Amino acid sequence: MSQNTFKPVRKAVFPVAGLGTRFLPATKVMPKEMLPINDRPLIQHVFEEAREAGIEEFIFVTGRYKNMLEEHFDFQPELEQTLEERGKVDMLQKVRDSEMPAGKLFLTRQPRPLGLGHAVWCAAKLVGNEPFAIMLPDDIVNYEKGCLSQMIDSYNQYGGNVVAVKDVPREETKKYGILDIGEEKGDAVSINGLVEKPNPEDAPSTLSIIGRYILQPEIFDHLAVFEKGAGNEIQLTDAMAKLLGKQEFHGLRFKGEHFDCGSRLGFIAANLAYGLKDKEIGKGVSALLEQYK
Ligand code: G1P
Repeated sequence: MSQNTFKPVRKAVFPVAGLGTRFLPATKVMPKEMLPINDRPLIQHVFEEAREAGIEEFIFVTGRYKNMLEEHFDFQPELEQTLEERGKVDMLQKVRDSEMPAGKLFLTRQPRPLGLGHAVWCAAKLVGNEPFAIMLPDDIVNYEKGCLSQMIDSYNQYGGNVVAVKDVPREETKKYGILDIGEEKGDAVSINGLVEKPNPEDAPSTLSIIGRYILQPEIFDHLAVFEKGAGNEIQLTDAMAKLLGKQEFHGLRFKGEHFDCGSRLGFIAANLAYGLKDKEIGKGVSALLEQYK
């Protein structure tokens, strides 16, 4: 089957202005996106997923006290020199791998915490008139082919807009954007409606959005209205709902295990999963699990 040609997804927006209240006091001065899952911070996990998917421009929507995020991706000459002198080749490679390509990191600020939709709107000028990805660093997916790569495959088939989705227990619909499901097309599903954080009894399904999106630039027209939704915040889900029926819109049941690292339990689960698959410490983590069971 020949693939359609749609405008490529070259840019990704990383909303990183959040306060990280669920991890206080750990996140009193340290951004929550710097919390490590195994040997790298959350923000690097999502950066690597974006890079693997062919993203060329990385747009951080930051806020106060978030400078450490841009520092993390910078060239560290003293560190590299020391590792080189000590012959720590593997470690040096890991450090080099965490460097952002020159001229590819773009920063903008979200001055007030007005919601995810507002954070994304803050990147409008940097995105311009092309499709783009949004990646929430709270969500990480463990699979050999990254979640965004899988979504780009789906985008190349259908075009339009794609969100990553998974089924959650009905009592958890209040934490997510929830789909009103249309036609099932293999791993993809077309969307009839979208609701942000519905009560379990009102949720149209249990298929929820996790923090990966490919959206068309028309989303900014709807975000620019600054309409408040659930939690009195400007919601991305509400703006996406306005695109339904006007553009292609699919949910992709991605492959891989998803971790909600914005919760302490999800964070610990992710550390166990990534620790277990680590070449150096995997066996040790497995022994620890035995010990503490
Ligand atoms: C945001 C979105 C929600 C989505 C979730 C995924 O909510 O508003 O639709 O399901 O991310 O993690 P938040 O987690 O910021 O409350």
